[in-house]
Amino acid sequence: MERLKKVGKVVGVIVLVLLVAGGSGYAWASWKSASMMEVTYEAHDVDFPVPFPLTEEELAALRAERTPPAAPDAANADAADAANAEDPGAEGVVVAAPPAAPPADPLEGVDLAALALERAVARGRHLVEARYACIECHGDDFGGGTMIDDPMIGSLYGPNLTGGEGSRVTDWTVAEWDRAVRHGILPGGRPSAMPAEDYQRMSDQELSDVIAYVRSFPAVDRRMPPISLGPLGTVLMATGQLPLSVTRIAEHDRAHPVAPPEAAPTVEFGEHLAGVCTGCHREDMRGGPIPAAPPDWLAAANLTPHADGLAGWSYEDFRTAMREFRRPDGTELGLPMSLMRRYISNMSDVELEAMWAYLQSLQPQPTGT
Ligand code: HEC
Ligand code: HEC
Repeated sequence: MERLKKVGKVVGVIVLVLLVAGGSGYAWASWKSASMMEVTYEAHDVDFPVPFPLTEEELAALRAERTPPAAPDAANADAADAANAEDPGAEGVVVAAPPAAPPADPLEGVDLAALALERAVARGRHLVEARYACIECHGDDFGGGTMIDDPMIGSLYGPNLTGGEGSRVTDWTVAEWDRAVRHGILPGGRPSAMPAEDYQRMSDQELSDVIAYVRSFPAVDRRMPPISLGPLGTVLMATGQLPLSVTRIAEHDRAHPVAPPEAAPTVEFGEHLAGVCTGCHREDMRGGPIPAAPPDWLAAANLTPHADGLAGWSYEDFRTAMREFRRPDGTELGLPMSLMRRYISNMSDVELEAMWAYLQSLQPQPTGT
């Protein structure tokens, strides 16, 4: 129903523009949408390292890992412990350790920079494969892909990010990456079709990890065609129904968090993770029709604990929905939620538990209209 209403509204707008304003209506829409793409925007200049260096905790863990067992006595003590474990009645043998010479730095000769990069790439991979879905539009090889290719709405392609021929990002600074990914602004200030509003909760470290992961891919030579709007896309954009990301982000100077919250089943971590759900389920998670959605997309479900939403769901129901993409009544989750399956299936149990904790903490609200 919601979908039909939406289509009805869209058709209404076209009829209005084309008939009431006559032939000049479409000319107006073309001019208006083109001029919207000419406006330039500004955002802050951020800076952060790629990759992030190893943390104090990681360094301490590495040291502990690489510190050799001090002396054979220690091994004896372990053996004695093991014997005790097998025979709880036996007395432990206490061996006094001899005074040790100051140990050499166990990290000497370890390539910490290479290790930091390896870990950043692994984290970036999880972020892309479980959450950020960059490959959905930029291609599995990051060499460029398709976001929308529809004769009515238009052709929007995700550009090549590999630094190969046809890629613009080769010498980009992290500030330029930040503006493209978290602000929807291209170098030079023009608005971008990149859905930056979905990445508002991304921390500097996560963006750094994603950049490290993208850069770990071989350069691909592929030039994606420029973006073009179809007749419907032109009218939607001119009438404000296809809002540009840059205009959907309230503050372009607000500092981003440096690191994500600790990965634990907490409301805080869950809220952070759910940032990628807001593009469809909305900032407050009450769902409703998705703006400028293709006609076969369903309205986003209400995820608040409201009777129209997830009231009555248990964590198990939520987990099943996220792992098997079906609801407690057995029905399958449809478009475009089904597109998320590839990503959500890579989320860890801790991530699912955290998102559930967050959803449960929300105010129950009726579904959006
Ligand atoms: C839903 C589709 C979609 C997703 C998901 C997406 N992008 Fe994009 N991205 C685009 C489109 C479309 C553009 C081109 C914007 C333009 O030219 O107006 C773009 C542009 C960019 C640019 C600017 C590149 C250039 O040559 O101008 C960067 C960098 C970028 N995206 C990185 C990312 C990263 C990193 C992610 C994941 C965190 C991501 N994108 C997720 C669609 C997407
Ligand atoms: C691309 C848009 C989109 C994104 C992103 C998205 N969803 Fe959905 N989601 C939907 C739509 C549309 C439905 C309704 C599907 C249906 O009716 O079959 C839905 C349904 C659901 C449902 C089923 C609820 C119910 O009552 O049927 C859950 C749970 C859910 N989404 C959770 C999430 C979570 C968690 C995230 C983020 C990790 C997320 N979704 C991201 C569009 C999206």
